[in-house]
Amino acid sequence: MYYYDDLYLEVKNVLSEKRFKHTLGVVERAIEYANIYGENIENVKIAAILHDCAKEISEEESLSMLNEYGVKLDEIEKKNTKLLHAKLGAEIAKHKYGLSDEIANAIRYHTTGRENMTMLEKIIYLADATEKNRTYYKEENELSLEEVVRLIEKDIDEGMQYVLKWTINSLIRRNLYIHINSVKAYNYYLKK
Ligand SMILES: [Fe+2]
Ligand SMILES: [Fe+2]
Repeated sequence: MYYYDDLYLEVKNVLSEKRFKHTLGVVERAIEYANIYGENIENVKIAAILHDCAKEISEEESLSMLNEYGVKLDEIEKKNTKLLHAKLGAEIAKHKYGLSDEIANAIRYHTTGRENMTMLEKIIYLADATEKNRTYYKEENELSLEEVVRLIEKDIDEGMQYVLKWTINSLIRRNLYIHINSVKAYNYYLKK
């Protein structure tokens, strides 16, 4: 069985200094949200520390590992290979570290989101978007990073709506593909 401290060292070994710093920012933010919304802190810390564990694996290696795990990719994942790390990270969590589907899904959906997310999934998705080292928030947003964090702390579903809107806008501005799960998530949280 793996505990947070073991995974901390595993991840530190495979990520660059910059990405590890981002990861620790996500852990910190995720704990803040978990305290507010009563989520299990150990699960939150484990999902947060692992969320980008596959991000620095080459595209070729990622594709071959996903193939070995028997994971199919959809059209958008084939076109935007930045999405691969979420799916692969979830498989690593399950198969290498023997973690639950609940934790694996929080890793799997941290880039796209999806409809009707669990509290753990929302916390990881939002902590990734709002950790303190994120800098590009300022130029692109109506709200400052602190204001987004306050919105999330007040109402996590409103936070989801805001961050999904920001993320989709940002993808459009950068001429990138939008994954169908993000569109479904946007519609879902807009209606709520
Ligand atoms: Fe990521
Ligand atoms: Fe991340």
